Amino acid sequence: MALYSEKVMDHFRNPRNVGVIEDADGVGEVGNAKCGDIMKIYLKIGNGIIEDVKFETFGCGSAIASSSMATELIKGKPVEDALALTNKAVTEALDGLPAHKLHCSVLAEEAIKAAFKDYYDKNGISYDPAMFAEPEEEE
Ligand code: FES
Repeated sequence: MALYSEKVMDHFRNPRNVGVIEDADGVGEVGNAKCGDIMKIYLKIGNGIIEDVKFETFGCGSAIASSSMATELIKGKPVEDALALTNKAVTEALDGLPAHKLHCSVLAEEAIKAAFKDYYDKNGISYDPAMFAEPEEEE
């Protein structure tokens, strides 16, 4: 069996939503200390909807595929749905990742949450800090 699914290869070779949103409402940047990969997510939010989302990922193929898929999963969705996105959902949408690559999908969840936190902080919106607790790696 191939190590990576067709979907992972597709999103790695042809990533969606790559780039920068200059006037983003929230920006989140996270990294993984072990592998050194870095992911940055930009959110444009209006009327409670994710109007646009872009990413820049300096990292492995799984991190690129995870960020691409994660942006696809939240684009056009209500804020609550985007906030509820888990690394497990990203992994499932990619038809799985090898166990040692699950942390790549965790980065995507963390980066989106960090962008929301930035958005809330900038706009003085109060939130429960537990919402932004570090996600667990889920299989
Ligand atoms: Fe670390 Fe993929 S190897 S994000």
